[in-house]
Amino acid sequence: MCFPKSFLWGAATASYQIEGAVQEDGKGLSVWDVCCKKPGFIKDGSSGDIACDHYHRMEEDVEIMHQLGLNTYRFSLSWPRILPEGTGTVNPKGLDFYNRLVDALLEKGITPYVTLFHWDYPHALFQKGGWLNRDSSDWFAEYTHVVVQALSDRVSHWLTHNEPQCFIGAGHYLGIHAPGLKLGLQDALAAGHNALLAHGKAVQVIRSESRQPCEVGFNSVGVLACPATHKQEDIAAARQETFAVHSLGFMNSAWWMDPVYLGHYPQDGLELFAPWLPKIDPQDLKTICQPLDVFAANIYNGGIVKMGAQGTAEPVKPEPGAQRTAMGWPVTPEALYWGAKFFYERYKKPILIAENGMANLDWVTADGKVHDIQRISFLNRYLKEYRRAAQEGIPLRGYFCWSLMDNFEWAEGYDPRFGLVYVDYKTQKRIVKDSGYWFRDVIRSNGESLG
Ligand code: FCB
Repeated sequence: MCFPKSFLWGAATASYQIEGAVQEDGKGLSVWDVCCKKPGFIKDGSSGDIACDHYHRMEEDVEIMHQLGLNTYRFSLSWPRILPEGTGTVNPKGLDFYNRLVDALLEKGITPYVTLFHWDYPHALFQKGGWLNRDSSDWFAEYTHVVVQALSDRVSHWLTHNEPQCFIGAGHYLGIHAPGLKLGLQDALAAGHNALLAHGKAVQVIRSESRQPCEVGFNSVGVLACPATHKQEDIAAARQETFAVHSLGFMNSAWWMDPVYLGHYPQDGLELFAPWLPKIDPQDLKTICQPLDVFAANIYNGGIVKMGAQGTAEPVKPEPGAQRTAMGWPVTPEALYWGAKFFYERYKKPILIAENGMANLDWVTADGKVHDIQRISFLNRYLKEYRRAAQEGIPLRGYFCWSLMDNFEWAEGYDPRFGLVYVDYKTQKRIVKDSGYWFRDVIRSNGESLG
């Protein structure tokens, strides 16, 4: 058995990372627009001001997706492009851009998979307290209402948040992503809770207002551990570690996923965070835990663990010289197998890998092409592991490669290149990389060509 017939094969992007045109057609400021101007905030001093200029090159980019044979495309909406102040007055030109994008995709037979929030947060709302303000969930519901009214006649696939671990953890606690806050734990936990509440309210809006039956999900980082061997005890250690909340930070799975899928925060997290916890209204948890159609996660790698003498998971250090990507992230293809398995066991929803891929030191060679053999090897091995999960009967919904094209990699600037398509930022010329053609063949064969 291979991938299911209805499997979604796509690539993903996010508004701030590709669109550019940050001050055009009435768009409001986002927290990233503001933070990028702070000296030292972005490694190479760059910003998303122009990025891939996708706002002006959308038709060309959709044509490239068509050439790649994608049957779906995951993109996010810029909240301040649609609602410049975050709430209130709608910017028709902003909505029009997404209307045109959706139409162009549908014309090519590509299913739009829309992420409502991939970190492009209205600066105007940040000034009112942002996610720290208890009203923020209502603001998000209002934004969702505007979007669903405008697009749901043609869009039926929705994700609410992308990676709350990052926009709360990196953005509100570590201060390395916009809005660049280093809040204490108490405030960061409250902001995270409000963001989850916003997810719940957005799902309610989508369900009650969508003009057609739809598929809705929540998209977090799939933080996970993989077993060092296939011994039962190491597998048990990896499972335990995947869902443990044991450090005072936000890079874990269960703190974010349990409330959404199970309706409660995990016990170990509640104990760990006890001194800083906001008051949690049980009604909030009911709102947060809405029925979802898929379990969506971004999985790039997993930590390797074995069972230790104390009955708890012990990390296994990578060998010196072990494979790493240009981000320095470890290459662990089995993360897609164990991720699918562990998350399905616990949350019992069809699995959607909403991001997976690698940054590589890509450049154009004398023949005018980009020979990114490492990315092909990476994707091949990860996808085979993902397929293994399907072969064991785990329902898989789809796979999105991060990313369609090279783009603005947040605080890392433009150095890391994640795309299936190379972007020359000086000329904005796009070149499909070898991996792009390879992925097209994988899609055509519904995964048979992986070998
Ligand atoms: C994820 C983000 C995405 C991209 C990749 C590399 O954390 O969701 O926007 O930056 O990492």
